[in-house]
Amino acid sequence: MMNEERTRQDGIYDVIGIGFGPANLALGVALEEMVDARSGQALRHLFLESKPKPVWHPGMLIEDSQIQISVLKDLATIRNPQSRFTFLNYLKVKGRLFEFLNLRDLFPTRIEFNDYLSWVAGELKDRVRFGQEVLTILPVEREGEVRLLRVVFRDIASGDLQELLARNVVLATGGVPRLPEGIELQPGGRAFHSHESMLRLKRDFPDREAPYRFVVVGSGQSAAELFYHLMCNYRSADVTAAIRRFAYKPVDDSDFTNEIFFPEMVDFLYGLPEEKRRLVQDDCKDVNYAVVDLSLIRRIYKAMYQQKVVGETRARICSYMHLESLLETGGAVIARFRDLLHDREVTMEADGLIVCTGYTWRKQHPILQDLAPFFQRDGKSGFKVERNYRLAADPKLTAGVFLQGFAEETHGASETVLSLLPVRAGDIARDLLSARAAVETYTI
Ligand SMILES: Cc1cc2nc3c(=O)[nH]c(=O)nc-3n(C[C@H](O)[C@H](O)[C@H](O)COP(=O)(O)OP(=O)(O)OC[C@H]3O[C@@H](n4cnc5c(N)ncnc54)[C@H](O)[C@@H]3O)c2cc1C
Ligand SMILES: NC(=O)c1ccc[n+]([C@@H]2O[C@H](COP(=O)([O-])OP(=O)(O)OC[C@H]3O[C@@H](n4cnc5c(N)ncnc54)[C@H](OP(=O)(O)O)[C@@H]3O)[C@@H](O)[C@H]2O)c1
Repeated sequence: MMNEERTRQDGIYDVIGIGFGPANLALGVALEEMVDARSGQALRHLFLESKPKPVWHPGMLIEDSQIQISVLKDLATIRNPQSRFTFLNYLKVKGRLFEFLNLRDLFPTRIEFNDYLSWVAGELKDRVRFGQEVLTILPVEREGEVRLLRVVFRDIASGDLQELLARNVVLATGGVPRLPEGIELQPGGRAFHSHESMLRLKRDFPDREAPYRFVVVGSGQSAAELFYHLMCNYRSADVTAAIRRFAYKPVDDSDFTNEIFFPEMVDFLYGLPEEKRRLVQDDCKDVNYAVVDLSLIRRIYKAMYQQKVVGETRARICSYMHLESLLETGGAVIARFRDLLHDREVTMEADGLIVCTGYTWRKQHPILQDLAPFFQRDGKSGFKVERNYRLAADPKLTAGVFLQGFAEETHGASETVLSLLPVRAGDIARDLLSARAAVETYTI
């Protein structure tokens, strides 16, 4: 562990952000632009990111897949349209402003949006350390009060453990791949989760002319994108989509429903009793999970129709397939499904199987385990998150622990997507700035 001397040299941060994906990038932008009204100074802040460099869901950077939100909902515009961190300014800097506008399409490819995020990360490079995995946060207790937190992290390249002190932390580590009950994936096996797809396809299935047998499990956006990608790019492959319902269901991005992503909806939902909140959220459940962009559904349908025209049916959709188990045999992977319609077992053998079963966002995050005794609980959903994204805590814990992305049950559907990142980051930055006055003179 790093010695106390080094910690003292590094000093105390007002805030340490854990993870440097879009959520904490938006916070980095807000902290850059929002300063303490009295001193005119920015907060002393640092982000720790486990990846060696900025990249957004690298395993899903499918060549032509587009973002599913207007690019005006970038890391800054809706909070500060004059920010230098907007997507439009990125285009201007890169010399593509007019060509982009000429496309007349506000939904750039994920590859371009990833490039924008990396550009912002580059602009904030003095505020981040890459290749640092945060392991835990420890309370620093003095005279019965915890005003400081000790953030313990590991340098991924060297394995060295280090620690830094902060008055606040903002955890934004994203979702983690979710697997159905009873499903385990062998590292490097023929079955893999969608989050590593493009990396695994490139490495293990490099020959785009080979007659591979692929199975894609799930019917959300990831599954549909991968089914279409395999069907179109592996020209001799046999591709099966195993889905648990009748057909791919389109995302509800219709005008009225989409208002669930308005900033005021966070206050509205947060203020409702739990069962009423669920009523609204059930009404809006097709805005995000297990749904597919309608234009992609149409492209898939057309591509399958075209296969019929030329008498070459290499792709199919098998409905009502619930994945129950996987067996790696070395030469293949065998998937066992429950056919929910005929109540029988169905097996499929494949060279490669992609499990597109989404992500989970656990509020009771392993990184918070050492602080857990301080946090208030909120029914079944774990720690209680206040409206300002701070974890409600025992009065002894005066240091702040904020979460980004983990409060969908109480704050609504915008929590896990890009939609309101700048607004949420602004709320957190404002809270941190107002808390700063109270601790300005405090040192360890
Ligand atoms: C394939 C895909 C495409 C998507 N496309 C869209 C879209 O078009 N529009 C939309 O609105 N939403 C989209 N989403 C939703 C997505 O959740 C958000 O886009 C966004 O990534 C959330 O940002 P985040 O920073 O909260 O999480 P993440 O993007 O997951 O970033 C978290 C970061 O934390 C780092 N990290 C994790 N653990 C540690 C640790 N212990 N120590 C240090 N660092 C750590 C990770 O390496 C990562 O860089 C998409 C999701 C997926 C999976
Ligand atoms: N281009 C883009 O912008 C893009 C690309 C990819 C993902 N995303 C986003 O990323 C988020 C996650 O999307 P996702 O598609 O990865 O996950 P998801 O929307 O959570 O979908 C998970 C899928 O797994 C299925 N499933 C779960 N258990 C199963 C089992 N045992 N057997 C068979 N199927 C099972 C579910 O089936 P049911 O339908 O029956 O529940 C569902 O279809 C969403 O917000 C999405 O919009 C965006």
